Amino acid sequence: MTAPIDPTTTSAWAELSALKDGFAPDLRAWFAEDATRVERFSLPLADLHVDLSKNLVTDEILASLVKLAEETGVASRYAAMLAGEHINTTEDRAVLHTALRRPAGAQPALVVDGQDVDTDVQSVLSAIDAFATRVRSGEWKGVTGKKVTHIVNIGIGGSDLGPVMAYEALEPYATAGIEARFVSNIDPTDMGQKVKGLDPETTLFIVASKTFTTLETLTNARLARDWLWETLGAAGVPVSTDAEKDAAVAHHFVAVSTALDKVAAFGIDPTNAFGFWDWVGGRYSVDSAIGLSLAISLGPDVFRELLAGFHAVDRHVAETPLEENVPVLMGLLNVWYVNFLGAQSHAVLPYAQQLHRFAAYLQQLTMESNGKSVKWDGTPVTTETGEIFWGEPGTNGQHAFYQLIHQGTKLIPADFIAVVNPAYPLEDGGQDVHALFLANFLAQTKALAFGKTAEEVEAEGTTGALVAARTFAGNRPTTSIFAPSLTPSVLGQLIALYEHITFTQSVVWGINAFDQWGVELGKKLALEIAPAIEGDDAALAAQDASTQALIAYYRANRS
Ligand code: F6P
Repeated sequence: MTAPIDPTTTSAWAELSALKDGFAPDLRAWFAEDATRVERFSLPLADLHVDLSKNLVTDEILASLVKLAEETGVASRYAAMLAGEHINTTEDRAVLHTALRRPAGAQPALVVDGQDVDTDVQSVLSAIDAFATRVRSGEWKGVTGKKVTHIVNIGIGGSDLGPVMAYEALEPYATAGIEARFVSNIDPTDMGQKVKGLDPETTLFIVASKTFTTLETLTNARLARDWLWETLGAAGVPVSTDAEKDAAVAHHFVAVSTALDKVAAFGIDPTNAFGFWDWVGGRYSVDSAIGLSLAISLGPDVFRELLAGFHAVDRHVAETPLEENVPVLMGLLNVWYVNFLGAQSHAVLPYAQQLHRFAAYLQQLTMESNGKSVKWDGTPVTTETGEIFWGEPGTNGQHAFYQLIHQGTKLIPADFIAVVNPAYPLEDGGQDVHALFLANFLAQTKALAFGKTAEEVEAEGTTGALVAARTFAGNRPTTSIFAPSLTPSVLGQLIALYEHITFTQSVVWGINAFDQWGVELGKKLALEIAPAIEGDDAALAAQDASTQALIAYYRANRS
């Protein structure tokens, strides 16, 4: 295991600390004095145009950040990941989500731990293609011979957030008359709402779980199975014998998992199960068989195009020098903001309604990856780590929390994401509504960068205390990411961009971005507490005083 390099011991860190002392960013002056700033700080990334110019950096700072990446071994760690080294140290696993999107026939072939990774990936992809085609054409039928019109993906975390985000983003491609719904929460309301109005004879459930042990997903899968039997029975379909029940499950349930033995134990025919591998982290798995719901609802070609978008960014990261490497630079900017300018959070603000679940998706990707306080060798981190990612689409956010970004006391770097061509172009009395929408994206990034001085406020006739209230300090950093349209490939590029940003930050901080031990304790305690809620007094007595009091409240108020 290569030991992590303490970033605070590098010469780049010393340089950045010195640059931070007395740092007085002035985007107005920087733009006024440097006609080439926008051009120099704008970079292409596959189909994306990325404008970094409104960030609080100078050439000097950027050079030191790149040096920090060099000194902490970002490039060699990336190469180790691509080569299949077990960089997920606590689970002793390779990290190969990038292999999921390698095109067929990519050379040299990738063999890791004796596994021919490329062949395995392509064979699962072919199975996904074939199955999706059968469902879409109607060749796959429900137990009464009807074509599938609705699929319900049951999963949580990485087995839900990616598929639901991508389905919403690519909804214009859902033209085959198959609607996808997504159930994740163990709150029974989620299942209750999602099966409402569904016809069991035309519904196909996908149970998506890497481990096939997740409490929420297995509970929901059982609820769905019961719903299927009950509603089929109510419709007069024979489902009383075990054989009839098994036949119903065989026609209406498929699974995606790395644990195909557990899939079989649940009663799903392993021939209707799609596998992946322990080297795909849950939050990096939308491009694995976990994307089956996308291949069915949007089509296998759309799914392949999504993968091609991921791969285009993987290639950029592998082949581009650090100083022009967009994901690396964006990761380094985040390090600058977190470790030197004290940012605690990072906003992601898509000006594309189709990306309304993107921030939710990124929360797992970024915070489950980098929310750590030990390094990959088990020693404590020496710096602040994982910032809080959050966001909502514009313009909705403008009418909610932008006030704080513009005039609050906190530094919140923000990524604005927009596309030139909308999926639904509409006009309002001759006015292109999408152009008006984009004007808001541009206005917000401009206002955040350049603000409004007291003199400018006064020149408009404002006087007294109102002047300060109406003044905008500016120098609020943003990155603008623009694409021609939200195609499947562009969505893949966006996801891969943030995967690699997250990875870059993790390497600088010395973090293993691919484990998630922090979610284990709560899962274990929930299993211990469940009997106490249900009435087991011994289990109740074992709880702390606050938990006992809350359970007493629950018991007293249960109707
Ligand atoms: O929340 C922890 C976690 O392990 C995530 O990393 C994962 O995406 C999620 O649970 C779901 O796990 P599984 O796909 O195994 O059901």
